Amino acid sequence: MKLPLINSDNLLPENYVPCLEQVQDGYEMEYHAARCMRKMICAALQNGIRLRVYSAYRSIDYQKGLFSQNIQRYISQGMTPDEAFKLTARYIALPGASEHNAGLAADITSPEWEGELTEEFENTPQFKWLSNNAHRFGFILRYPRGKENITGIGYEPWHYRFVNCVHAGHIKKLRVTLEEYLMLHNC
Ligand code: DAL
Ligand code: ZN
Repeated sequence: MKLPLINSDNLLPENYVPCLEQVQDGYEMEYHAARCMRKMICAALQNGIRLRVYSAYRSIDYQKGLFSQNIQRYISQGMTPDEAFKLTARYIALPGASEHNAGLAADITSPEWEGELTEEFENTPQFKWLSNNAHRFGFILRYPRGKENITGIGYEPWHYRFVNCVHAGHIKKLRVTLEEYLMLHNC
């Protein structure tokens, strides 16, 4: 499978729908990613870590709704439309620019987590386990801290992108983003 770059410069076709399989509690991912996610959830459990899928595949239409609802929420809190757009785009990709729309990403948290996902997730045993093991199942932390100017997205310790085990191992070792990795390897 080719390694697609999905971001605001590389949008998915408007009608894109991946071949999906279940991962947990009705959440679905692209079927290669789903198989590896299910294996990762089982492996974590064997180490006493319960991973909860918080978001996985989202249609482009769903992403549109999510994006505009967030803008409205920020406007209702007193922001200008421009401020609301910028803050929304920091954590929610534009419709078609989200790896969730391709079924290749999942947001993962702990069963105890309540409310919105925040950077505090990095203090959980789930995050520690994912940091040490996600690459073995083909997943990378896609939006690392300090790389916001490259990815265009704020730090998201919960967002894991499927790339396959070989690429994930290299990306982890090189400590690069997917954008940098694809520039280096031209794949
Ligand atoms: N939260 C990530 C950037 C997304 O919406 O795909
Ligand atoms: Zn995500």
